[in-house]
Order: sequence, then C-alpha cells, then structure tokens
Amino acid sequence: MKKIYLDNNATTPLHPDVLEAMLPCYKEFFGNPSSVHQFGRGVKMKMEEAREKVARLMGAETSEIVFVSGGSESDNFAIKGTVFQHDPKSAHIITCQIEHPAVLQTCKGLEKQGYPVTYLPVDANGSVNPADVEKAIRPETRIISIHHANNEVGTIQPIEEIARIAREKGVLFHTDAVQSFGKLPVDVKKMGVDLLSVSAHKLNGPKGVGALFIKKGIKKMMPLIGGGHHERSRRAGTENVAGIVGFGKACEIASSHLGEEAARLTVLRDKLYKNLSEKISHTTLNGHPTNRLPTTLNMGFEFVEGESLLINLDLKGVAVSTGSACSSGSLEPSHVLMAMGIPHEKIHGSLRFSFGYGNTEEDVELLTEILPPIVAKIREISPLWEG
Ligand SMILES: Cc1ncc(COP(=O)(O)O)c(C=O)c1O
Repeated sequence: MKKIYLDNNATTPLHPDVLEAMLPCYKEFFGNPSSVHQFGRGVKMKMEEAREKVARLMGAETSEIVFVSGGSESDNFAIKGTVFQHDPKSAHIITCQIEHPAVLQTCKGLEKQGYPVTYLPVDANGSVNPADVEKAIRPETRIISIHHANNEVGTIQPIEEIARIAREKGVLFHTDAVQSFGKLPVDVKKMGVDLLSVSAHKLNGPKGVGALFIKKGIKKMMPLIGGGHHERSRRAGTENVAGIVGFGKACEIASSHLGEEAARLTVLRDKLYKNLSEKISHTTLNGHPTNRLPTTLNMGFEFVEGESLLINLDLKGVAVSTGSACSSGSLEPSHVLMAMGIPHEKIHGSLRFSFGYGNTEEDVELLTEILPPIVAKIREISPLWEG
C-alpha cells in the first residue's frame, strides 16, 4: 500500500540534504559556539553561515535573526518580549481570532495578567480587514500580531497594508509566517514588518528550531530566557547548532525552487479540489478561493464526520488532518472555521489536505479513487443523509 502524506502543514519530512548537512554537527563539529578555541570557532562559523541563509530567504540582515526553539517560542517572544516592558494597563495588543494557538493562547494568558487584547474578526474567507485593524488601534496599543497565512485554511492576510497602518500609528507589527516561509515570497522589508516568526520543521528542516526576525533598531525586547549572552543577549542558552545548520540548509533548498514549487503544489492542490468536488456531492471549500497557500486545501464534506474520514483514510495509508495538529485530539470545533462563520455541522465534516515536496500527481489520483467510496459509505449510515 502506497503511503500518502498530506499533512505537511502539521510538519514536513526532513529533506535528505538537510540531514546530510546536520550530521557533522553530531560528530566532529561538537564544540560550543561560544567557545573561543578552534572547536568553538568552527561551529560558530557553521551557525553563522546558517544565519545568513535564513536571513537571505526573508530579505533580512543576519544581525536581525534570533534563533529560538521553534514557531511557538518565536511567537511568544515577539509578543511577550514587547509587552513585558510595559505596565499591563498601558500595553494593548491587537490580534485576530484565527491565529495559531501559539499567538492566541499567549494573548489569552496575557489578558489574565491584565493586558487588554482585541481579537479581530475575519470574513467568510478567513481574511482580516485592514480597516478593522486601524479602528482597533488605541493610544496604548503596543503590538499588532496578525499571521501571514493561516495553518488550517491557508488564507493569506493583507500583511503589507496592515504593516503600513501599524507604521503610521507607531505600533510594532508582528507576523507569524510559520506556514508561509519557504512557500511564498517572504520579504521583511517589502512586507514592512518589525517582527516575524518562522519555524524550520514546516519547510523540510528539523523540529525544535525556529527564528524571530527583530528589525534593526528595535532595542527593547525583554528576553524570555535569561542567562548568558547568546544570540546578542536576546535569547540565552547554548544554541541548537545541528538544528540551526539544518534550518539554514532547508532555507537554501527552499530558495532554490520557491516559485516553481509553489506553482507545482498549486496545480496539485487545485486538481484535488476539482476531482473531489466533481466526484463527491455536498462539498465546500474552506478558505480564500484564490489568495491561499499553495500547500493548503481545506474542504467540508456534509453529512460525514471529519474524524471518521481521517480514520478511514489512515487505514488506507493516507495522512490528512481535521484541523491543526495542535487541536486534533480534542473534539472542539476548529476556532478558525468557527470565526469564518461556518456552521458546526459543516465544521465537523472538514478535512485539511496539505501538500509538500514529496507529493505528486499520483497522490492526487490515488486519493481521488480512495476518498469518494469512503464518504459514500459513511453517508449511507448517516440518519441525516437522504442521498
Ligand atoms: C501558524 C503557526 N504558528 C506557529 C506554529 C508553531 O510552530 P512550532 O511547531 O515550531 O512551535 C505553527 C505550527 O503548527 C503554525 O502553523
């Protein structure tokens, strides 16, 4: 049975060249990058080469990259690092209702500590309206955090416009680009962002490493982890050198084929949607019809439970998701689909297919054969289904 992995928004397989690049860091390059001797210096050089590659893929300078443990830490650092320098009452935060839990739960926690937070709504496609951002800004707003692209439905946000509004009002702007980095062009200058979060394991790099871009000139960021003077005193702790080197390699690979790969995945994504919506009745597309990540197809199948689909597909060797990996396992309906105004019964019948570099046309053809009979079988036993 051929295994088909269509859950690349949860995580991606490690690229073999990334592993190759990492292996020496577990062998001869074992030194501490902070050590002055040659063991340390050799490792430091490898780490700085990786920093260069990560910076290049987002149009940043190397001094603007802080390595952290992943997307979640990066989001936490951006938001808490900004507001912790202020008295809670004087540090208002603006975000949106469909952020990843790394942002949403961080904001909810801060709210409990007295920081006021505005959670902006989204429209039926999952888009934030920049005019809403502008209206929500108060004199005490310290940070606006709106993700670049959504992990569940793939909708891409009007980042440049939001960044412009933030800049005009003198408010820091953070974007979580964990899902878009390495898949869409990400250019911190063009986007006009102050802080940007990325994570290696979403672009065929290793797990447990990510970065926060901090625009030059932003001096005041409270470190979340105190200790030594690593990462220009922004984040203490001996760096995850192998992870960082792997992250650099993953960025280099992504930059070598960014446009082509995006075009290739868009074709696969749209073909799967076309095939499934032709072969299965009562389906819907969740997310923006066009302004969406090339990797992401989220579809609703009425009169079925997404969980049953997921399990049946798993038995056939196909991996998909019913929501974000972080919320699967809970039966709570997706907060993203709810904010988009999708009714509960439709949310429960939604699946996310997320593509990556290992997927081919054959995967799409196979899934087109496998899924329709599964849906038909489940619908047959549904009391609501009238065929
Ligand atoms: C949009 C987004 N932000 C943040 C994260 C968290 O990243 P990490 O798993 O590296 O902590 C994820 C992971 O799913 C994500 O999709």
